[in-house]
Amino acid sequence: MSTDSELASCCTALYDHPAVQLVMGESWHPGGLRLTESVAREMRLGPGMRVLDVGCGRGASAVRLAKSLGCRVVGVSLEQQSIEAARATAARQQVDHLTEFICADLLEAPLGSDSFDAVLMECVLSIVQDKDAAVSRIFDLLRPGGCAGVTDVTVAGPLPDGLRGVLATAGCVGGARPLEAYGELLVRHGLDIEELSELLDVASGFLRDVKGKLLVAEIGMKLGKLPLDPELIRVAKLLLTEAQGLVNAGVLGYGLVLARKPG
Ligand SMILES: C[S@@+](CC[C@H](N)C(=O)[O-])C[C@H]1O[C@@H](n2cnc3c(N)ncnc32)[C@H](O)[C@@H]1O
Repeated sequence: MSTDSELASCCTALYDHPAVQLVMGESWHPGGLRLTESVAREMRLGPGMRVLDVGCGRGASAVRLAKSLGCRVVGVSLEQQSIEAARATAARQQVDHLTEFICADLLEAPLGSDSFDAVLMECVLSIVQDKDAAVSRIFDLLRPGGCAGVTDVTVAGPLPDGLRGVLATAGCVGGARPLEAYGELLVRHGLDIEELSELLDVASGFLRDVKGKLLVAEIGMKLGKLPLDPELIRVAKLLLTEAQGLVNAGVLGYGLVLARKPG
């Protein structure tokens, strides 16, 4: 198992990489902002509600919740570059007065107990090493009656060695759990489950999308328009093929857990 600091450095190296930004765009989870909006509806988020976006990345979801619903959102993520991009997007979208972005680990971020109406975690819990400590912190940060919305990669069987290292963990696969295990984790820390759903098609839709963008990047590279390492493209294609096989076999998937802190 990798250490927390190894994992944090790997997240920074991965998510700050220009190729990742090129292929993944601004929203870094399967289902994209459409799924974020649907989860926000189920969480009944609305104007003025205080929302914590844990592992906010480049802030796409946080900015969308502020812009379309009027939520007041705090985003926390590990990469300074992502946090700066999130602040810039919020300013461009004129929601900087509704958003705040902090570069910190969830476990150390200066946030008040019982101070959030909702906590969103999109493709983050799978990455976190100490999942118990993370969920315990979420419980503490939520006000009584507040809602947690978790969407993440699910795994229903052993993963091949290539998808178990620190890079695969930073990429949300190596540390993924079965959907029920995410639910049990939240229950163990005092939250009541409201919904537990496998989001069929989200994982394969995501892989299709990434494959298409990778193809565009490869063409750009071959035409000399994109300064990409051919080895990186080769490895990414192999990983995608492997992941697609696991999705087809029902080993990898994507799921949603909605849970509430008792009022
Ligand atoms: C797959 S990206 C998802 C980003 C964002 N939620 C989205 O959907 O666009 C994972 C993000 O989680 C962040 N992350 C991982 N572990 C974290 C932790 N312990 N505390 C705060 N952020 C964390 C990483 O910095 C990275 O930006």
